Amino acid sequence: MWEWGSLLEGGVLIFFITLLLSYGAAGLKWLRLSPALRKGYRKLPKGSLGWPLVGETLALQHCLMSTAPHSFVNDRRRRYGDLFLTHLFGSPLLASTDPEMNRFILTKEEPLFTASLPKTLSMVVGQNALLMLTGDRHKRMRRLLMSMFSPEVLRHHTDRIQQLAVSVLKSWKGRKVIVADEAREYTYNVALSSIMNVGRKDKAEVFRAKFLELRSGARALPIDLPGTAFRTALQARKCLAQMVEEEINERKRTKEVRYDDLLEKLIEAPEADGGEPLRNEEIVDLILSSMLAGFDTSANTLLFLVYYIGQNPQVLHDLKMEHQEILREKATNEPLTYADYKKMRLSQLTINETMRIANPILSLHRRTLQDVEFDGRTFPANCTVQVWLRSLHTDPNLYPNPYNFDLDRWKGKTPNGNNFIPFGMGPRRCVGIELARMELCFFIHCLVTMYRGWEPAEEDKPRYFPEPGMRKGLPIYVHDP
Ligand code: HEM
Ligand SMILES: *[C@@H]1O[C@H](CO)[C@@H](O)[C@H](O)[C@H]1NC(C)=O
Ligand SMILES: *[C@@H]1O[C@H](CO)[C@@H](O)[C@H](O)[C@H]1NC(C)=O
Repeated sequence: MWEWGSLLEGGVLIFFITLLLSYGAAGLKWLRLSPALRKGYRKLPKGSLGWPLVGETLALQHCLMSTAPHSFVNDRRRRYGDLFLTHLFGSPLLASTDPEMNRFILTKEEPLFTASLPKTLSMVVGQNALLMLTGDRHKRMRRLLMSMFSPEVLRHHTDRIQQLAVSVLKSWKGRKVIVADEAREYTYNVALSSIMNVGRKDKAEVFRAKFLELRSGARALPIDLPGTAFRTALQARKCLAQMVEEEINERKRTKEVRYDDLLEKLIEAPEADGGEPLRNEEIVDLILSSMLAGFDTSANTLLFLVYYIGQNPQVLHDLKMEHQEILREKATNEPLTYADYKKMRLSQLTINETMRIANPILSLHRRTLQDVEFDGRTFPANCTVQVWLRSLHTDPNLYPNPYNFDLDRWKGKTPNGNNFIPFGMGPRRCVGIELARMELCFFIHCLVTMYRGWEPAEEDKPRYFPEPGMRKGLPIYVHDP
């Protein structure tokens, strides 16, 4: 509900402001450009700025709600070329749709490009979130996070993740389940257990409630007025920060207890890498932003996985073979290991095809630090550049019949490094890849070995606005083995 609530409150506001502004500013493209883009006006790529203030956001929304949800970019690309000017999310920007150009933008960080998030979003995720940091600070914090989410460490967490999957799936027996809710339950638990393993139940409940408020605010329109999702999120943030700090202090008192989570790694950072100890507010931001980065992304992917597997009986059949084969080589009730995970090839392929169509992330944003030339094109200094992931993955030239779920399209091919980048690339490539893939594989494993299959409890359809998901959250009944 809150999603639509906050969209509505924003919508009404935007409507009135638009009405006011459309008198004066309409038509005058130059006036509506940012100072950076004005300077490079003569060399700017073609494109349209759409309506005052909302720009082309409504056109994007219209496409996302249609049967070709990612056609916004492909249409403009045909009209204007593979780098075009548009106006989205409140500011003019350049959108890149060419795989080579994407690679250039994402891998040439500093001195050419830097990460760029709207200021208001940084109020929610925190100044010290990995996505906000640059240069050496970014490198160090990224290394610390990798020290928790790398394969070498996660190989010791396989049974912890498996248990979380089993405990969610056990409850599916004999009732109608809404897969979207269950997926969030699972991915929240996985994220929490590897990021901040809060033992005490009462504390965990409050943390969860406040975290969900924070996450709603990160996706709502940034309007800081009483009662808005954004204001609620900022308040939730204060409360969460206090809880994380209490946890830090408690852990410093009881040094002998091991938690095996990110918080522990951050507290012990100076011993591990010889650097300065992290300030409490840095730790808080890294903890909360990692939770935000790893929660909805994984939950949405899981939801679509269950949907697409359910739609393709042959895929379900083959997945069962894969996972029964893994079980055959193990003793009864022997937990999953990293070696088992490495055998889940078909599951990984299914995850890839799912993420191709329904990547939880629409686009990535960077800002130019200087005038940048690429292949005869100019990006003026200090302008926002956007790399589109989902439209890249549904480009009909790269993927024929792009909206069909079809594992055969990958036959005999490994994904081309430029054409398939669900986790981004370069120095900001997702640090949670291995955790995300492992939790998804283990969930599939438990699902297809604990149950014979499942059927829809109601008709349901994917939707891509305001974010990818299923209209009804995918209600299903599972069949006993
Ligand atoms: C299916 C699930 C996931 C997807 C599709 C995904 C996707 C991405 C993408 C595309 C980026 C690059 C952002 C950019 O270049 O601007 C990213 C960054 C990041 N992801 Fe993920 N992610 C997923 C799961 C996770 C998980 C489980 C975690 C951690 C627990 C995580 C933590 C992060 C962090 C901390 C960054 C920032 C990296 C940096 O700036 O150096 N992600 N993710
Ligand atoms: C899935 O995609 C990744 C690239 O993101 C690739 O490295 C991997 O080989 C793919 N897995 C399979 C089974 O094709
Ligand atoms: C870059 O652009 C932003 C927004 O357009 C502006 O607020 C900022 O002052 C600019 N910075 C520089 C160094 O020009």
